[in-house]
Amino acid sequence: MELDLCSSADLEGICSVEEQSSVSPWPREVIGADLSGDSPYLYLCARAGDRILGFGTVLRKGKTSELANLAVLPEFRRRGVGSQLLAGLAEIAESLGSLRMNLYVRESNTGAAKLYRLFGFSVLGRHTGYYADGEDALVMEASLPLRLPDDGDGGYPPPG
Ligand SMILES: CC(C)(COP(=O)(O)OP(=O)(O)OC[C@H]1O[C@@H](n2cnc3c(N)ncnc32)[C@H](O)[C@@H]1OP(=O)(O)O)[C@@H](O)C(=O)NCCC(=O)NCCS
Repeated sequence: MELDLCSSADLEGICSVEEQSSVSPWPREVIGADLSGDSPYLYLCARAGDRILGFGTVLRKGKTSELANLAVLPEFRRRGVGSQLLAGLAEIAESLGSLRMNLYVRESNTGAAKLYRLFGFSVLGRHTGYYADGEDALVMEASLPLRLPDDGDGGYPPPG
């Protein structure tokens, strides 16, 4: 698997991942415009040959970048793809001058929140009714560079 920045040629693959990952997928037109134009959203893809296994999006906002999206094909989850994308996006944000990364995650999305905690994100607050269906978002933030789970500095969760 390799990571690289996405282009318009990746539109179909990204939309496929997004549609299999979100209850309210980003519209194809929005993703297409991001990929083809001068957008502040940067997309990073995880590829295996011609196939896109996952992607993530970062929005640079001054000294804080937002992780705006992160999604992996269902059959490729729990294999480290999301972790590699997150680490890659954080490196990009840092290289663009950001000192922090933040994100919004559904309160019910405990799997994603666990992944973020492993990388040093902590909950800053709650955005009530943030999503269209009324669910709250947890706002999480971490300093850059991210603490990587395999740093050997206590980042791994305890066994069990
Ligand atoms: C969230 C998502 C991107 C994670 O991708 P992934 O490739 O499965 O993540 P990783 O394999 O790198 O996970 C690393 C660790 O995070 C934790 N984790 C990730 N997903 C988890 C889940 N569903 N439940 C519990 N823990 C989870 C685990 O500790 C995991 O390590 P382990 O598999 O050795 O236990 C993926 O589940 C996804 O696309 N979900 C749908 C879209 C989504 O919710 N995006 C987040 C929006 S904020």
